[in-house]
Amino acid sequence: MELSLKDISVTLSGEEILKSIDLTIEDGAIISLLGASGCGKSTLLKTIAGIITPSGGSVFLNGSCADNLPPHRRGTVIVFQDLRLFPHMTVADNISFPLKMRGVSKEQCRKTAVELLEKVQLEGYGERKINEMSGGQLQRVALARALAAKPNVLLLDEPFSSLDENLRQDMRKLVLKLQKEYRITTILVTHDRQEALCMSDRIALMKSGKILQYDTPERIYHAPASREVADFFSENAYIDGTVTDHAFTCDIAAFRTEMPDGPYQAVLRPGAVRIGPWDGKRDFQVTEISYRGEDYGISLKDQTNGLVLNTSVPSPCMFKVGDLVSVQLDQEKIILLPR
Ligand SMILES: Nc1ncnc2c1ncn2[C@@H]1O[C@H](COP(=O)(O)OP(=O)(O)O)[C@@H](O)[C@H]1O
Ligand SMILES: [Mg+2]
Repeated sequence: MELSLKDISVTLSGEEILKSIDLTIEDGAIISLLGASGCGKSTLLKTIAGIITPSGGSVFLNGSCADNLPPHRRGTVIVFQDLRLFPHMTVADNISFPLKMRGVSKEQCRKTAVELLEKVQLEGYGERKINEMSGGQLQRVALARALAAKPNVLLLDEPFSSLDENLRQDMRKLVLKLQKEYRITTILVTHDRQEALCMSDRIALMKSGKILQYDTPERIYHAPASREVADFFSENAYIDGTVTDHAFTCDIAAFRTEMPDGPYQAVLRPGAVRIGPWDGKRDFQVTEISYRGEDYGISLKDQTNGLVLNTSVPSPCMFKVGDLVSVQLDQEKIILLPR
């Protein structure tokens, strides 16, 4: 099912929480709503599901306006952060609950529950009580219950945030596998940039009730529309420069570019910065080193202009705080934003 939002605004308790949101999700795609806590992600999910009525704009399902459809007739299902399973029912009864509500026979409910338990790798757990299941297992039960409803649009509100890293990886894989298998149009809410990058066909990056950019993971990372977008994904440095006749020049770099003439800001991502031994030309001083397992995060300060650059070096680290080093910039990885 294609989902389309046109100019959605939401006001709660007199405060404008969502501001003119436009978003289209192709049939069978998975997208992420990515943004810091409080930016309006859950509010947007609830608006799509019909739980919150927008103060302006419309929701379209396969091109038809859904504004007058109550939640249970939209075919959207939300898996809430707190799961909202029924504690007094068995796992199987939880999963088949949406079917029971539709008057599906006991036998068919049982069959579907068994089938879905297998899909979420919980074979044989059907007769357990909810309080006999671990956190990771409960996530799977909630996912199975959502699938039982055969949703047109699956809305996942930070479904992995309470899980530890290993379980989270497993759940990400499982959700992607089932999302593809059932071809369900899916929106994943997350504040985890890595999760958004690895799971989505597109990412809608949100801030303060607005969408800053809606794009593929590759484009949102490599071609950020603004400094705010770039900052969400890495600790960058920025340096002003100018393009004249296809050449960009700034205080610490000069390279050719296809960008039109004008003033720009170069985005220096950690990945664009490499440390070399001090070559006697330009001093950068190592000001911070933090161990991260695979590598070390390093902050460097330009002794001439105070510019702070972040980068990483593989383990073992040959540098110590106070060292003077030189910096090489990988021009291919420098992004130019018009000023
Ligand atoms: N019922 C409500 N009344 C007033 N403000 C609300 C209500 N629900 C959420 N908000 C506010 O709306 C903003 C967005 O909330 P939410 O959508 O839950 O953000 P997110 O899911 O991105 O963390 C927050 O500032 C929150 O305090
Ligand atoms: Mg939320």
